[in-house]
Amino acid sequence: MAVLKIAQMGSKILKNRAQEITNFDEVEINRLFEDMIETMEDSNGIGLAAPQVFFPLRVVIFFVPESRNNGKEVPLTKMINPIIRPKSESMDEDWESCLSVPGLAGIVPRWRNITYSYQDLDGSLRERDASGYHARVVQHECDHLDGILYPMRMVDLSTLSFVETISDEKEES
Ligand code: NI
Repeated sequence: MAVLKIAQMGSKILKNRAQEITNFDEVEINRLFEDMIETMEDSNGIGLAAPQVFFPLRVVIFFVPESRNNGKEVPLTKMINPIIRPKSESMDEDWESCLSVPGLAGIVPRWRNITYSYQDLDGSLRERDASGYHARVVQHECDHLDGILYPMRMVDLSTLSFVETISDEKEES
């Protein structure tokens, strides 16, 4: 296992669309997952996408602490080729930050209710419903696979702030 270097906003790898994984080598992808988990924990993040550690692949990890999800924890989830579908037109606005945009946070609109699906390491297809902060984290991480950083989703850029100027506690993802 290794802590990997995190790509910062402006890096080319964060602007490109990441590639679907087909016929994957289970051992190699598992090693990537393990390194991403160690990197995320080292940075106190709650999510990480492979392009953030310079792998142009559709691979994401995340978890949601119970304190951010009405007391309901979402355990560490490892996703290959995730796909998101909004369940309604409803949007929520909340603060986001990102390990590739260190020190900053901003208010970002996201779908309130989504269904997302992904492949496991063994290739089986999983599907989950998510709402609120859980849905937000998944949307933030999957955006990294399409070259999108949260400031590109912001409607009101006047909320872009240094984290230390905001009183609420924020996690980076
Ligand atoms: Ni991010």
